[in-house]
Amino acid sequence: MQLEQIKKIGIAGAGTMGSGIAQIFARQGYKVVMTDINDSILEKSKKLVNIFNDSLIEEEIMSKDEIDVVIANISYSTDKAVFSDCDLIIEAIIEKMDIKQAFWKEVESIAREDAYFATNTSGLSINKIFDLVEKKERTIGMHFWNPPHIIPLVELIRGDKTSDSTVEVLKELLKTIGKEPVVVQKDAPGFIGNRLQFAAFREAMYIVDQGIATVEDVDKAMKFGPGFRYPVIGPLQTADLGGLDTFYYISSYLFNELSDAKEPPEMLRSRMESGKLGVKSKEGFYDYSDGKDELAIKTRDKMFFKMLKYIHMEQKGR
Ligand SMILES: NC(=O)c1ccc[n+]([C@@H]2O[C@H](COP(=O)([O-])OP(=O)(O)OC[C@H]3O[C@@H](n4cnc5c(N)ncnc54)[C@H](O)[C@@H]3O)[C@@H](O)[C@H]2O)c1
Repeated sequence: MQLEQIKKIGIAGAGTMGSGIAQIFARQGYKVVMTDINDSILEKSKKLVNIFNDSLIEEEIMSKDEIDVVIANISYSTDKAVFSDCDLIIEAIIEKMDIKQAFWKEVESIAREDAYFATNTSGLSINKIFDLVEKKERTIGMHFWNPPHIIPLVELIRGDKTSDSTVEVLKELLKTIGKEPVVVQKDAPGFIGNRLQFAAFREAMYIVDQGIATVEDVDKAMKFGPGFRYPVIGPLQTADLGGLDTFYYISSYLFNELSDAKEPPEMLRSRMESGKLGVKSKEGFYDYSDGKDELAIKTRDKMFFKMLKYIHMEQKGR
């Protein structure tokens, strides 16, 4: 199926991710049908979409007219039969292999022969998720980042049998909704984004554990050093601009010093085991008591919206 023929998107799982994904497709004029296991979850999803809409109006990223389009374009159902006339079905249900496999087996018996099948799994194997699907060339991983109505990256992950045209058409589709797709050429755990993120996370904890710097200074160094560069130039471009000879010399003595831990470190395990889970339990690496939790979320969201506005301007200028 060609890009122009894609008009209707089916979404399964009306939770955090499914609701955000519905919002971004509906906003660009696609008809979206959102499904879940019961009506009360669908009602909650409607409210969540309204919260996303309100924040985008408040930040002047969307107009009231555009919001009316979002609302009109999303319909809701608990019956998978609605997938029968969808051009693309995106699954954002619970992260459990057997449930995802059973879902797709059933959906293949309902959906059109030429409909695309995408899973938003965070890290399960794409090949395994679609194991029971017969026409595997139409299957793909489509990993949106949370919150999907804000973060531009979407990773498209090829399964062993995913066709080139499935990758190309869905990549173009994601561009039409203002996303920045990347292609993960094989079914590798962590795809791209989480591999990079967790390499930095492991090293950040190692630096603290080795007494090299405090938690605060590690975060500050990332935000104002490497992190300052990354929205503009990635790590490989950074090396090109710095000089590959210099990066070679640094790599030859520094790689040997970095963490190569194969297990989560003690400082993470002990916090988790004692219920220090971060913002949601008011303590993690930092203290979030006395309203500091809300402040942390508000500050993050404010800065994310600033970044989003900047990216919108960039995309318009391209
Ligand atoms: N939350 C994140 O940060 C994040 C980021 C990227 C990807 N993901 C992935 O997206 C998927 C959904 O995650 P989420 O955070 O939105 O979860 P969630 O718990 O908020 O929502 C999942 C929804 O799926 C529904 N569901 C469960 N089984 C179902 C079935 N058989 N048919 C239809 N609906 C069913 C549940 O009722 C629930 O409403 C998972 O695969 C997750 O790993 C999550």
